[in-house]
Amino acid sequence: MAKRIKRIGVLTGGGDCPGLNAVLRAIVRTAKNDYGIDVIGFIDGYEGLVEGRYRELSYKDVSGILARGGTILGTSNRADPFHFPVLEHEDYVYLDRSSAAVRNFEALGLDCLIAIGGDGTMAASAGMAEKGIPVVGVPKTIDNDLYGTDVTFGFDSALTTATEAIDKIHTTAQSHHRVMLVEVMGRYAGWLALFSGVAGGGDIILIPEIPYDIEAICNAVKTRNARGATFSIIVVGEGARPEGGDLTVQRTVQTSPDAIRLGGISHKIAAQIEGLTNIECRVTILGHLLRGGAPTSADRILATRFGVHAVHLVANREFDQMVSLHGNSIASIPIGDVAGKLRVVTPESDVFKAALSLGLCLGIAEGIPIDEQFADSTPQHSKTRG
Ligand code: F6P
Repeated sequence: MAKRIKRIGVLTGGGDCPGLNAVLRAIVRTAKNDYGIDVIGFIDGYEGLVEGRYRELSYKDVSGILARGGTILGTSNRADPFHFPVLEHEDYVYLDRSSAAVRNFEALGLDCLIAIGGDGTMAASAGMAEKGIPVVGVPKTIDNDLYGTDVTFGFDSALTTATEAIDKIHTTAQSHHRVMLVEVMGRYAGWLALFSGVAGGGDIILIPEIPYDIEAICNAVKTRNARGATFSIIVVGEGARPEGGDLTVQRTVQTSPDAIRLGGISHKIAAQIEGLTNIECRVTILGHLLRGGAPTSADRILATRFGVHAVHLVANREFDQMVSLHGNSIASIPIGDVAGKLRVVTPESDVFKAALSLGLCLGIAEGIPIDEQFADSTPQHSKTRG
């Protein structure tokens, strides 16, 4: 008979998002309640596993955190155990610390590691699985770009914040007869821009998957004005770029597996629109605001379902899986199938098709079939990150 699972570890890796605490709560409660399993939490994602920093997680520790944003464990998007940054003489060197992670895991007598994170955390976890650590992944990110699940938790909360912001921008746009650009995060995927643009009643939506044509954008603004609308709202994904042009990089973080941080493309678009139409523009970049605050009820439910299912998988010894949502059902997919892939908007995406039917401008150049407008929005170096 297989040995009973007694003690598991959990960590939250990558950029934070609303709902992480809801998953932690669900994991600890299900582990104790259904199976009598003890849980310890590693501090700051894989950094804590490599450096042996952790704390016990009791029922009491996860009490009152369901609605709290962020993560009580802390997180890091620079802590890939296979490419771990270590400061040496004021310069970073990158070491494979995965064996230290395995040693710490074994020394604590753990039976499994539940890793809550995005694509970088799943890639690292797939690597840990290959080193013999039983893992279960739980997908999070406001970007909603994780391969293998229809939705990640955190997305709905960020979408709600973005939609509220776009609603508010409408009134000032109207009063001043301006073109207002609202830039949202999302990295190389346009889900947040597309969904918030549609939900917030944006007029023009620019996503990384479709390099935009500035003429098409200006024509849409002018057509609206000719029809009597005295303002336009443009929702811009931070990974948007012009046809034949590059991503707008705000900064680089050398220690991060994907060093690029995007942001600021809206300022370039605004300057071009003003130059070509003479209409005044203003830019609002929502940035990390989208990662903050309490999770929506939809995210609390999804995070809870993911956390509960992750523990069931562990108890049944169904390791090396990532929990996922398919339609309305919670399922799982081998974690090795997820690593190194991103889920981006395609011409078949429902909401993309709906945006076209609504007559919204998606920055598409005239005369070229829509399928041919889509381009790989992911730079080769950025297939995964921590
Ligand atoms: O992946 C989540 C995300 O918020 C992206 O949307 C954004 O590009 C990136 O993380 C920002 O990372 P950081 O917190 O390092 O600035």
